[in-house]
Amino acid sequence: MFDNRKVVFSGVQPSGNLTIGNYLGAIKNFTAFPEDTMRFYCVVDLHAITVRQVPAELRRRTYETLALYIACGLDPQKNTLFVQSQVPAHAELGWILDCYTMFGELSRMTQFKDKSAKHADNINAGLFTYPSLMAADILLYQTDIVPVGIDQKQHLELARDVANRFNTVHGDTFVVPEPYIPASGMKIMSLQDPASKMSKSDPNENAVVRILDEPDAIMRKFKRAVTDSDSRVARGEGKDGINNLISIYCAFTGKTAEETEREFDGKGYGGFKAAVGEVCVSALRPVQEEFARLMADKAYLESVMKQGAETAAYYARKTMSKVRRKLGFVG
Ligand code: TYM
Repeated sequence: MFDNRKVVFSGVQPSGNLTIGNYLGAIKNFTAFPEDTMRFYCVVDLHAITVRQVPAELRRRTYETLALYIACGLDPQKNTLFVQSQVPAHAELGWILDCYTMFGELSRMTQFKDKSAKHADNINAGLFTYPSLMAADILLYQTDIVPVGIDQKQHLELARDVANRFNTVHGDTFVVPEPYIPASGMKIMSLQDPASKMSKSDPNENAVVRILDEPDAIMRKFKRAVTDSDSRVARGEGKDGINNLISIYCAFTGKTAEETEREFDGKGYGGFKAAVGEVCVSALRPVQEEFARLMADKAYLESVMKQGAETAAYYARKTMSKVRRKLGFVG
């Protein structure tokens, strides 16, 4: 809508050390969009404070998340990489969209239900209105495509509903975004409880493989992954652990599940787990090396943030002036 290019937007919370779920479900796919798109990738620190954070850790993880974006292949010259709280229009549009989001809609969000169960001592209003801030992130840039893991699909649907509602009341204002959810690697499950999502805030370290884990730790975690009493490397019902390991293997190698089953036919779980660990270690090695180099240069990361925030604010201003006019705000 700004020009004839399609706009891509996504965000990651700096709320924990990122996992291979974040990598395979989201960041790896951020690099898949063609040169003729306009791409915004945000470190969503405003979202992170819906759960209590230690300030020094939040600051460190904000740098780290930005460094990981670059280390995973996002060139700051070609992508707008920025930190959400450095562009105040996110909070401003977030408030406005709160007034176009229904209590009932927010009450149905499964992430709200999960997080309020996990943080029963801090069910704050921000946790509840989290999805309208997320809608603001997306709608601010007139986004066409939002690459996310499947766990964010419900939030995306809400963002579409809010955009449509605003457009119906005030006339065409926002582009209605589409989710982009890759076929493989879209929901990586916990290695210890393969019925639940691999989550960066999981207190059980064996359940989570982090992008920055040492090779030994990665191998150990895969070797300890919970499976079942069968020994055939094949997908099936009641085989959540193996199903998950097969999808991780496929996501890292680009092979299909059928090819993987054939490759490990008759080989047993032990060998397969080690193979999954190895492909993971070798895919992450270049990312980890580049990450270490970037983290040693804070000044560079700060210059990327500053430039990114300026570019993002420029486009955000365009949308905000339209929104203000439509709402009847003066000036
Ligand atoms: P967050 O920080 O929880 O996760 C970042 C991205 O990683 C994906 N993801 C996964 N994919 C596959 N398997 C998993 N186990 C897994 N865990 C996480 C998520 O789907 C996400 O794409 N609300 C968002 C952040 C956000 C955002 C936005 C995203 C804020 N504003 C605007 C897109 C557009 C979140 O909590 O992501």
